[in-house]
Amino acid sequence: MTPADVAKATDGVRWMSLEHGTFFYDLIVKNGFRSILELGTLHGVGTCYLAAAAEQTGGHVVTVDLPWSATLKPEAAELLKKCGLRERVSIVRRKDGAEGFLVSRLDAAFAPFNFIYVDADHTYRPTVLFATLALASLVPGGYVCFDDINNSGYPDVRRAWQVVKQLPGVEITEHGNLGVCRRGSV
Ligand SMILES: C[S@@+](CC[C@H](N)C(=O)[O-])C[C@H]1O[C@@H](n2cnc3c(N)ncnc32)[C@H](O)[C@@H]1O
Repeated sequence: MTPADVAKATDGVRWMSLEHGTFFYDLIVKNGFRSILELGTLHGVGTCYLAAAAEQTGGHVVTVDLPWSATLKPEAAELLKKCGLRERVSIVRRKDGAEGFLVSRLDAAFAPFNFIYVDADHTYRPTVLFATLALASLVPGGYVCFDDINNSGYPDVRRAWQVVKQLPGVEITEHGNLGVCRRGSV
C-alpha cells in the first residue's frame, strides 16, 4: 500500500495527515527499518501509514495506547484490516500506557527499535518521559519523531521539545510540526 492508498482507505478518520504519513513512510523505507513503535494509537490512522512502510521493509509495528482506545469506532484493528495490514501490527493496550510499555522493554531480553513515533499524552512530564525512554529504546542510527513541536495548541510539547534538543548524542531536525531525533552512536 502506498501512503496515498492509506489516505484513501482512512479518509474521514482522525489523525495522521498524508503529508506526515508520507514523511514517515519514506524515512522508514529509505533506511530499511523493520522494528517500528508508535506511542498513541487512537483509531490507527498513523499505524496504517507505519504498517504500509513496514510492508515494504518486511518489518513489524507495535502500537501502544490506553485500554479505552479499544472502544473507539473505528478501532485500530478494523482500520488495519481495511488496509490489508493487520498482520503487520501488534496492538498493545495497557493501563500504564506508553511509559509502562517502554519501561517493560528496557531489558536485555528485548531488541531495541529502529523507529519510534511519539504521539501520546501531549502534556509536559509524560512527553519528556516518553522522549528519554524512547531514545533509550532505540538502536544507534535509529529515529524518534514527535508531533506538534511547533503547535501553539500544545505549549507543553514545545517545552518538552526544548529539553529533547539538549539531550546528548542526538541529532535534531525540524520539519514543520515534526521533530526528528536521530540517535548517534554514542
Ligand atoms: C493524537 S492521538 C494518536 C494519533 C495517532 N498516532 C495517529 O497518528 O493517527 C493520541 C493518543 O494517545 C493516547 N494516549 C494518551 N496518553 C497515553 C499514554 N500515557 N500511553 C499511551 N497512549 C496514550 C490517547 O489515548 C490517544 O489515543
